[in-house]
Order: sequence, then structure tokens, then C-alpha cells
Amino acid sequence: MSKVVVMDHPLIQHKIGIIRRTETSSKEFREMIGEIAMLMCYEATRDLKLEDVEIETPITKMTAKELAGKKLAVVPILRAGLGMVEGMLAMIPAAKVGHIGLYRDPETLVPVEYYCKLPADSSERDIFVVDPMLATGGSAEAAITMLKQKGVKNIRFMCIIAAPEGVKKLQEVHPDVDIYIGALDDHLNDHGYIVPGLGDAGDRIFGTK
Ligand code: PRP
Ligand code: URA
Repeated sequence: MSKVVVMDHPLIQHKIGIIRRTETSSKEFREMIGEIAMLMCYEATRDLKLEDVEIETPITKMTAKELAGKKLAVVPILRAGLGMVEGMLAMIPAAKVGHIGLYRDPETLVPVEYYCKLPADSSERDIFVVDPMLATGGSAEAAITMLKQKGVKNIRFMCIIAAPEGVKKLQEVHPDVDIYIGALDDHLNDHGYIVPGLGDAGDRIFGTK
């Protein structure tokens, strides 16, 4: 069964409190999403492998550490996932970026695919799928299924707010995918929105409502 990590870092919790507020502007919402993604990336990359490398400081030779060369990629689920990309790249600047376009049909809540463009060598990379919201889990499930169909094996999923329903579904369908969550909320309402949540993440990032 996959690992589920709920972030307890005070900076992450503080910033999530800001994006939940109705009065937070799109500008501040975007900035906060970027900062939260950066802090979550720091926590979610704790287990990256290191290797020894011989270097010289101005004083002497020494054995230092460097990342073991495993290639990474960040794959945001459009639209709202885009808000997390810059923060992720601030921590792992060499990562490549793929894009998966999905939107939830407002009636059925079933994800509809409209775009997929991935780095050519995705199957050799460790992939971080990012989306601020994990609600029913339909979008994350579909995005990860698309990646697996293209040969990707090592996938982690990172979201800022999750509903228990989405976590359960993702664990059932993709038990190999570790899930990193900023805050685990209470439940979904009748329209598939997370309660207490923050509303529609895409609309709040891009100011479309
Ligand atoms: C939101 C959100 C997730 C999805 C989560 O996107 O960014 O992708 O809903 O819901 P789920 O877990 O029930 O699938 P939305 O479909 O509103 O598209 P948008 O980002 O283009 O606004
Ligand atoms: N998508 C969002 O943007 N917000 C929710 O609460 C659920 C799905």
C-alpha cells in the first residue's frame, strides 16, 4: 500500500490557512500556492538518493554528497496544477515538465482529458504529479493512469488539500503511488467540493470567477 504523508510543517499550515480564506486575492493565492508547493517539494524529496563525490574545497580534498543522478519530472494537472510548477522548480531546477489537461464534468464529476504532453524520456524519470486539490480522486486517478500507459513507473502525487474520499480512491486504484498532502480535510459536499476546502482552485488562481 502506498505511503500517505500529511505535512505538519507550521509554514505550510499557515500558508494553507491564507489560501482558504474567501477574501484572499488571486495575486496572493497564486503566490501562496507557489510557496506551499516549494515547501512541500522540500519535504517530499527527503528520500532522494545521494552518492559520494570527491571534491576539493579551498582548504582540502573531501568526500561530499550529491543527488544520485535520478532524473525527475513535474507533471501538473491543468489548469490548477500549473500554480505549483514554479515552486517545484525552485527546489529541483533540473526537472523537466510535462502537462496533462483534465477537467471535471460539472454534472458527472468524471474527468475529461484534453491534453497530454510529456518529456520524451518520461519512462526513465521519477514523476511528481501535482494538483492543488484531490477531491473525488477522479482527475488524479486518470492522470496517473495516462502516465502508466506511457510507461512511467515511479510516480508520486502531491496536492495541497485532499478529501478522504480521494485519498481512498487513489490508494485503491494506484497502490504504488505515494501521496503527499498539505492538509487532509473532512469530506466532499454534494457538488464534489472539498469541505471546508478553498473553493475552486483553478478559478481562484486564474481569477476566472
Ligand atoms: C479541479 C482540481 C483537480 C480536480 C479535483 O480541477 O484542480 O484537478 O478538480 O477533483 P477530483 O479529485 O474530483 O477529480 P477542475 O476539474 O475544476 O479543472 P480546472 O483546474 O481546469 O479548473
Ligand atoms: N476542485 C476544486 O478546485 N475544488 C474542490 O473543492 C474540488 C475539486
